[in-house]
Amino acid sequence: MPTVIGPVRPTQTGDSVDQTAVGPLLSGGSTMFRVCIYHGMPTVTFRGREIECNEGETLRDVLQDAGLTPHNGKTKTFNCRGFASCGTCAVAVDGEVSDVGLREKGRLLVPPHHPNYDLRLSCQTKVIGDVRVEKYPGNWGTKIAKGPLPPVDEVDSAETDPAETDSAEFDSEASEATVD
Ligand code: FES
Repeated sequence: MPTVIGPVRPTQTGDSVDQTAVGPLLSGGSTMFRVCIYHGMPTVTFRGREIECNEGETLRDVLQDAGLTPHNGKTKTFNCRGFASCGTCAVAVDGEVSDVGLREKGRLLVPPHHPNYDLRLSCQTKVIGDVRVEKYPGNWGTKIAKGPLPPVDEVDSAETDPAETDSAEFDSEASEATVD
């Protein structure tokens, strides 16, 4: 009597670990092996929040659908709406995401961006697995030396969110062309 080992299913909805089961199956007298891999929903961690999304979703959409934003200050209103031209949705990403495309790569070469910042345009980045995302100050999110923005819950209503930058900074930042 052959032993058939079935696939192992995640115990809870949203489990993000791969679970693999290999079992010998009899077919026409020969033995085959079947590997079943189950993926849960990726989790995006951003400014103290954890957001579940579907694999392949655009990072900018994931943040905005959760009531968050990859944009700082006035660029929340004034941006290219996801066409990889303004460069203001840039974030640092650690995790499984899509590769950098040519359009995105080209924009990240234009100041105030710089390849050394190692940022991604969230409007061009697809979420593949769990990712940790950081946003830096400045209208393009390029003020790396200042450190990432704090969790949104830590920003008291009486305190100014560092993500909110004024127009003077906008003007000076626009003319930047060097690495901090
Ligand atoms: S929204 Fe303009 S580059 Fe992403």
